[in-house]
Amino acid sequence: MRPYDIIYKKREGQKLSPEEIRYLINEYTAGKIPDYQVSAWAMAVFFQGMDAEETADLTMAMAESGDILDLSEIEGIKVDKHSTGGVGDTTTLVLAPLVASAGVPVAKLSGRGLGHTGGTIDKLESIPGFKTSLSREEFINNVNNVGVAVAGQTANLTPADKKLYGLRDVTATIESIPLIASSIMSKKIAGGADGIVLDVKVGNGAFMKGIDEAHSLGKAMVAIGHEVGRETIAVLTNMDQPLGQAVGNSLELKEAIQTLRGKGPNDLRELSLILGANMLTIAKGVDNFNEGYSLLSENLSSGKALCQFKKFIGRQGADPAVVDDLELLPEAENVIEIKSRSDGFISSINAREIGLTVMMIGGGRVVKDDAIDPAVGVVLLKKNGEEVLKGETIAKLYLNDLSHQQEAVKRLEKAFVITDEEPSKKDL
Ligand code: URA
Ligand code: CA
Repeated sequence: MRPYDIIYKKREGQKLSPEEIRYLINEYTAGKIPDYQVSAWAMAVFFQGMDAEETADLTMAMAESGDILDLSEIEGIKVDKHSTGGVGDTTTLVLAPLVASAGVPVAKLSGRGLGHTGGTIDKLESIPGFKTSLSREEFINNVNNVGVAVAGQTANLTPADKKLYGLRDVTATIESIPLIASSIMSKKIAGGADGIVLDVKVGNGAFMKGIDEAHSLGKAMVAIGHEVGRETIAVLTNMDQPLGQAVGNSLELKEAIQTLRGKGPNDLRELSLILGANMLTIAKGVDNFNEGYSLLSENLSSGKALCQFKKFIGRQGADPAVVDDLELLPEAENVIEIKSRSDGFISSINAREIGLTVMMIGGGRVVKDDAIDPAVGVVLLKKNGEEVLKGETIAKLYLNDLSHQQEAVKRLEKAFVITDEEPSKKDL
C-alpha cells in the first residue's frame, strides 16, 4: 500500500477500505508517513467526505492506536457523556454524582480547558486537596466503592488523534464532520464507554454555529456508535449564551453544588436532567427517559445526589465540608459590577467573548503550561430575553489582578447585546 494511492483515491471521491484507513492511521502514528501526506489526505476528506462505514473504520483505527481502558471490573453498563465544548458548561460536575445516585456507575475521564472553553479537571482542582490524577486501580476501585470517579487522562489514549488533531489545527481541516466525529468518538471508545451520550452545542459559543451543521455532526456520531456497537444518543443544545450563570472554575463549582442542592440555574438543572435521563436509559437503569427524568429530579430534591457528590470528592482527597461551607473554596479579592449601558432587552450574550475574557484574567491558559487562577470569573445576573434598565448590574466580574480590570469590563459590556425589542425566546 502507498499513501499516494490512498490520497488519490479519496481525492477522486472514492470509498477507502478498512485496510487502507488502518494502514494510514497506524503508519502515521508510528512516524512512517510524513505530515504532508496526511495533510493532503485530510484535505481530500474535507472536500469529499466519508460515509458511515469509513468514518467508523477511522474511529476504531484511532481508538486502537493506543490503550483502550478496560472497565470490565466495574459491574454494569458504563455510559460516558461528552460535550462538544461550551462556556460555563458545568454539567459534568452535576451529572456525574447525579447519575451515580441512581445506582449507575460513572467512570469518567475529563479534560482541561481548551481555548475559550473550560474543562472539568480544572474546575475540580479548585477544590482544595482534590486529586485528579488516579492510577487505573484507584479509578476502578473508586467507582466500585462510591459509584463515581472523574480523572484526568493518564494512560496513552488515542495517540493517533492527538497527532492528527494537531495537524488539522494548522492545515485548516478541523471543520470536517467525519474528522470531528471520529476524533470525539475514538476518545470515548478508548475511555472504555459501552454507551455514549453526546451534547452537541449550537450557537455563538460553540464549534457548530448553525443547527443544520450540528444536526449532521450529531447524526454522524450516532452512526459511528451504531456501527461499532455502542448505543449512542446525541442531544443538540443552545450555546448562544453561557450555560447557567457562572463562568470560571471555582464559581462554576459553587454553581454545581447549588444545583445539587436542588437550587441552581434552571438551564443547568434542566440540561443535567436531560443528559442524565438519557444516560440512565442507555445503562438500563430505568425503562425510559421519563422515568429517568423523574428519578433524577427526585434525587436532586431529596439531597441524594448531593450526598453522592460528598462521597465522590472525599474519596478523591478533598474535605467534603466544602459542600456545606462554600467559603472554603477559592474566592477572588475583587468583585466588580458590570452595568447595562442602556434600557432594553438582552438579545444575545457572546459566550465565546466571555470565555476569552475569563481566560485572559487568569481563569484559563494562554499557553499550555500556564497556571490558572481558580477564583476568577464572571457571574451573569441577566440572561437572554430579560429586560434591563440603564445602570442596572448585569454581571459581576471576580478578579484578583486589577491590571486586567479595564479591558475585562470593556469586553464584558460589549458581550451583552441589548435591543429595544423583546427578542423571541430560544429553546435550551
Ligand atoms: N473536539 C475533538 O475532540 N475533536 C475534533 O476534531 C473537534 C472537536
Ligand atoms: Ca455555568
